[in-house]
Amino acid sequence: MASKRLAYVLSAILFLLQLHFSAGQTTVVKAAYWFSGSGLTVSGIDSTLFTHLFCAFADLNPTTYKVTISSSNLPQFSTFTQIVQQKNPSVKTLLSIGGGNSSPSSFASMASQNSSRKSFIDSSIQLARNYSFHGLDLDWEYPSSATEMTNLGLLLTEWRAAIAKDSTTTGKTALLLSAAFFYNSNYYTVNYPFQAISKSMDWINLMAYDFYGPGWSPNVTGPPAALYNPTSQVSGDTGIRNWIQAGVAAKKLVLGFPFYGYAWRLVNANNHRIFSPANGAAISSDGSITYSGIKDFITQNSATAVFNSTIVTDYCYSGTTWIGYDDTTSISTKVTYAKGKGLLGYFAWHVGADKNFTLSRNASITWG
Ligand SMILES: *[C@@H]1O[C@H](CO)[C@@H](O)[C@H](O)[C@H]1NC(C)=O
Ligand SMILES: *[C@@H]1O[C@H](CO)[C@@H](O)[C@H](O)[C@H]1NC(C)=O
Ligand SMILES: *[C@@H]1O[C@H](CO)[C@@H](O)[C@H](O)[C@H]1NC(C)=O
Ligand SMILES: *[C@@H]1O[C@H](CO)[C@@H](O)[C@H](O)[C@H]1NC(C)=O
Ligand SMILES: *[C@@H]1O[C@H](CO)[C@@H](O)[C@H](O)[C@H]1NC(C)=O
Ligand SMILES: *[C@@H]1O[C@H](CO)[C@@H](O)[C@H](O)[C@H]1NC(C)=O
Repeated sequence: MASKRLAYVLSAILFLLQLHFSAGQTTVVKAAYWFSGSGLTVSGIDSTLFTHLFCAFADLNPTTYKVTISSSNLPQFSTFTQIVQQKNPSVKTLLSIGGGNSSPSSFASMASQNSSRKSFIDSSIQLARNYSFHGLDLDWEYPSSATEMTNLGLLLTEWRAAIAKDSTTTGKTALLLSAAFFYNSNYYTVNYPFQAISKSMDWINLMAYDFYGPGWSPNVTGPPAALYNPTSQVSGDTGIRNWIQAGVAAKKLVLGFPFYGYAWRLVNANNHRIFSPANGAAISSDGSITYSGIKDFITQNSATAVFNSTIVTDYCYSGTTWIGYDDTTSISTKVTYAKGKGLLGYFAWHVGADKNFTLSRNASITWG
């Protein structure tokens, strides 16, 4: 009897220990960013296809260095978690700060002083707790000098300490801490702070896209989110391998892919391969077009769609319009790659660009 009771008590202790250690451990990330200008309402997101959703973007006030939510975003942001959890109670939400249109110099300035880092960190935690987000995500695009990378490391270390302290004092599960980083482990030769990242972050989102665009030199079509690249080092695979070689564990890496593409105008409609001569953007001023828009373009113009398995990109063309993008073939190949490399998962920018959740669903089921 006594030994039976002892066995019961021991297994109960073991169970509680497991709970304790698994609480802060994310085992998979199947994620997408949602942003307020995307045309997709929060209640329109099929959250059953995700483990994590990023709510974009909160702002950095350049004088107080506090994180704020604009008054126009507040109604959607303040109810974001509650609404996406209606369809999927276990989905986790992260408040994303900054973004491609925010000022990198404001982030650099914030990160350079102890007092401004503290304002940023404390206000971010307060916002996340106040509006029931499960975590925080930094989108500083990009720290671009050795000093800024050092300061980023200090920011991440102090942020993690503050998050741990918040968890201890409130008795709540610690907030998640992630960031969207350049696809490569260095930003044009300047290394990211690998040790601080490994010690302080739950994971990092690698933006493995925007590799080619119509406004760029040389004026040729290109695979905007190539997984492999026979002609250069610019590819998702190169970036992932460099991050791992730099000592950041594969289990901290999340592979990003775009739910949008870029449209070029071909010089010659009969020369429609990857790296064919072009003369600027088609369809929109910078050529960017959502996946949903691309699928409509293909239908309306009976465009020819091609998957190139060497590069892992899709493209389509009709007349002199050529669009490079990721369709289900590229997305499922990348998800399989990410899982095979032992990465933590994947994320997409952005869920509002998907067509009826086709890519989101394919990615989620492909990962399994
Ligand atoms: C500022 O932060 C650095 C690094 O965390 C620390 O070594 C230093 O003592 C701090 N200085 C002040 C004035 O708090
Ligand atoms: C917390 O949320 C309430 C509304 O629920 C709002 O009035 C208050 O300003 C918020 N505080 C912060 C720090 O965001
Ligand atoms: C894929 O694209 C590369 C680069 O343009 C090209 O060399 C290769 O022939 C293409 N593969 C196929 C199967 O078309
Ligand atoms: C691409 O071609 C267009 C049309 O000729 C031109 O306006 C644009 O400046 C070119 N861009 C680059 C980067 O060469
Ligand atoms: C994902 O897309 C690929 C390519 O279209 C297809 O072969 C595969 O069956 C799809 N997977 C799912 C789960 O829909
Ligand atoms: C959207 O996708 C769902 C699930 O695959 C499907 O049942 C539905 O018919 C699709 N709706 C449209 C408008 O294509």
